[in-house]
Amino acid sequence: MPVSTPVLDFVNHYAQFQGIRMHMPGHKGRAFLGCEPLDITEIKGADALYEADGTLLESAPNASALFGSARTLYSTEGSSQCIRAMLYLAVSRARQTGSRPLVLAARNVHRTFVYAAALLDFDVRWLWPPVRSSICACEVTPETLEKALDDLPCPPACVYLTSPDYLGSMADIASLAAICHAHGTLLVVDNAHGAYLRFLSPSLHPLDLGADMCCDSAHKTLPALTGAAYLHIGKNAPRELVDNAKAAMALFGSTSPSYLIMASLDGCNAYLSDHYAEHLSDMVRRIDETKAALSAAGYAVLPSDPLRIAIDAAARGMTGTLLADRLREHGIECEFADPDALVLMLTPENTPDELTRLVAALGTCEGSPRERMPLPNSCGKQAVTIREAFFAAHELIDAKDSLGRICGAPTVGCPPAIPIAVSGEVITRDAVDLFKRYGVDKVDVLK
Ligand SMILES: Cc1ncc(COP(=O)(O)O)c(C=O)c1O
Repeated sequence: MPVSTPVLDFVNHYAQFQGIRMHMPGHKGRAFLGCEPLDITEIKGADALYEADGTLLESAPNASALFGSARTLYSTEGSSQCIRAMLYLAVSRARQTGSRPLVLAARNVHRTFVYAAALLDFDVRWLWPPVRSSICACEVTPETLEKALDDLPCPPACVYLTSPDYLGSMADIASLAAICHAHGTLLVVDNAHGAYLRFLSPSLHPLDLGADMCCDSAHKTLPALTGAAYLHIGKNAPRELVDNAKAAMALFGSTSPSYLIMASLDGCNAYLSDHYAEHLSDMVRRIDETKAALSAAGYAVLPSDPLRIAIDAAARGMTGTLLADRLREHGIECEFADPDALVLMLTPENTPDELTRLVAALGTCEGSPRERMPLPNSCGKQAVTIREAFFAAHELIDAKDSLGRICGAPTVGCPPAIPIAVSGEVITRDAVDLFKRYGVDKVDVLK
């Protein structure tokens, strides 16, 4: 039985009612896009996201039950809002001890993490992989984490991981969560790319594997509008996280959250509860077959989370961008391409025919490995804190002239929006080389 959809029902009903709108938004249910009749504000009966006592009070617990969380909160501003809220929750607990908060984070963070460090003024100790194959990836082994935690004088505010990462690599959350808890700290996961993992059998969702909090961008892998996301708090996480979560989300969210997005999240509950796990399992099988067909055609398919196809283009002497162009000629747009890799994101909303067309469009592949520039697994010295760097005077300069300067805003290529240099760090020769490689022409530095 699909679960109820009170927000969607209200919005649909109001759109059909066709009353006179003497309230916001200014489009009055008319105008450009076609979705305006459904786009309302907090009118009577519509409830209010951060003071819910009606439709939203009914809807969010539906999501919480589906995801098996202690509490799930809706975000209309993506995982970006949830990341700030999660770090606020973790850092506020740490501040109670009186020490300056520190977060231990795998280096392949999304830039939102750096923005949160500036807003919340915490220090970061980076976790680096033994070998770094891409700026998107940062494998954290249980041994690396254990050692990093042992080396700290007291537990960090939290350990922060991105899993799945942009290439689809997934961390060993169960082992890493156990290590975090044994060291008296929280595990917080950026699961922006993995909302659907909950519905695999067995579940690979970070919450089910022991994470205390995670964010899921519903819009990335579920049929939700852009901006729709969840903040989940685990059943074994400290109670204060559950109690303070709404205030944390309100701190970073707009006071006019989009009803289109909330209705979309609400509708998603019904979608997920109506045989979604079976549709997902069918799609995963089809994607596995597609990966096998691409391997048979000569492509180096990287291991990845089930709804993603990541191709190591460099392994066959190609570039991801060249493969992306090849697909574009056949009317297929990829998620991400860089000099080394091509990434495709799929969901059960893709048709079997689209997968067949993908294999046909890529054709066969022959080639020997292109030499790869090794990626550095260290960064420049932190000259000032991330917050100090954000609040200092900045200037934009050519990336080639940035050697030795202090990074202002995090320098990213977008996507994947993973910083090559982080605010406050001295820009090294390695970083300058990486700017060139990832097509970053301008760098924001301190004056
Ligand atoms: C790994 C990762 N984390 C966080 C985000 C931010 O998510 P959102 O766009 O939902 O705010 C992204 C966006 O692409 C991402 O790739």
